[in-house]
Amino acid sequence: MRRFLTPAAMHTWADEQRSAGHRIALVPTMGALHAGHMHLIDVAKQHADVVVASIFVNPIQFNRADDFTKYPRTLDDDALKCAKAGVQGLYLPTSDMMYPDGYETHVLPGALADPLCGAGRPGHFRGVTTVVTKLFNAAKPHVGVFGQKDFQQLAIIRRMAIDLDTGINIVGVPTVREDDGLAMSSRNARLSRAERFAARCVPDAINVATRAVADGELSAAVIAGMAGQEIGHQRLAQVEYIDIRDPDTLHPVHHLDGPTLLAIAIWIGDVRLIDNVILTP
Ligand code: PAF
Repeated sequence: MRRFLTPAAMHTWADEQRSAGHRIALVPTMGALHAGHMHLIDVAKQHADVVVASIFVNPIQFNRADDFTKYPRTLDDDALKCAKAGVQGLYLPTSDMMYPDGYETHVLPGALADPLCGAGRPGHFRGVTTVVTKLFNAAKPHVGVFGQKDFQQLAIIRRMAIDLDTGINIVGVPTVREDDGLAMSSRNARLSRAERFAARCVPDAINVATRAVADGELSAAVIAGMAGQEIGHQRLAQVEYIDIRDPDTLHPVHHLDGPTLLAIAIWIGDVRLIDNVILTP
């Protein structure tokens, strides 16, 4: 596995791969790699000849300094996992390389970035679209692979890839879950034992909502209320949002008449967890 520390080094290698006729898949990450990321890498391998993983904790997508500082950083372990998984290129740019003095250009997402996580984290998605554009420009992938756990992020990146004529195929990969249903996330590592136990309320809420829809419930307010009640049982959990939306436009839905997104964000202590499901009436 080759490591690249600068956009220029990443460019040169990507150009060589393209000249050799190889298709490149990029798996952008912020590190602290878990089984969910490894699954993204496996899917990337199915779509390309060579896989590049990037690890960069992107400062401009954090709207809280403490969240950025506390984000887990496990580079040596991550690099080992990537090598074992068959990643050919590991892109590890530094903040100074990505945002040198004088940096002032950003990619501004549209209305898809307004609700859900965008409402609670102003500027977050602008940071994501900007860094993903820079990673795309450096690694020159044919395919970009992203997890469906960050449903809104995936929708925004799909839109961006089309709107900016990148020609990059964006592949969304289903969420990998722990045995008790908790979505895998680098942030789970920051939960204490009691908090980790409490976090089960999120998949439990998703299950309650899914069952309600299977039993014929179509009112978004009722379904969101049931999910909220499930989370309400956990005194350590604080709801940021429980929202039911059209999965394509992210517009609010009041009455389910097709596949519909249920998206949840909660806080447990100072750890923010998100999850989602597509409810199908
Ligand atoms: O999903 C993430 O880990 C990040 O938002 C991403 C896509 C790597 C951009 O920093």
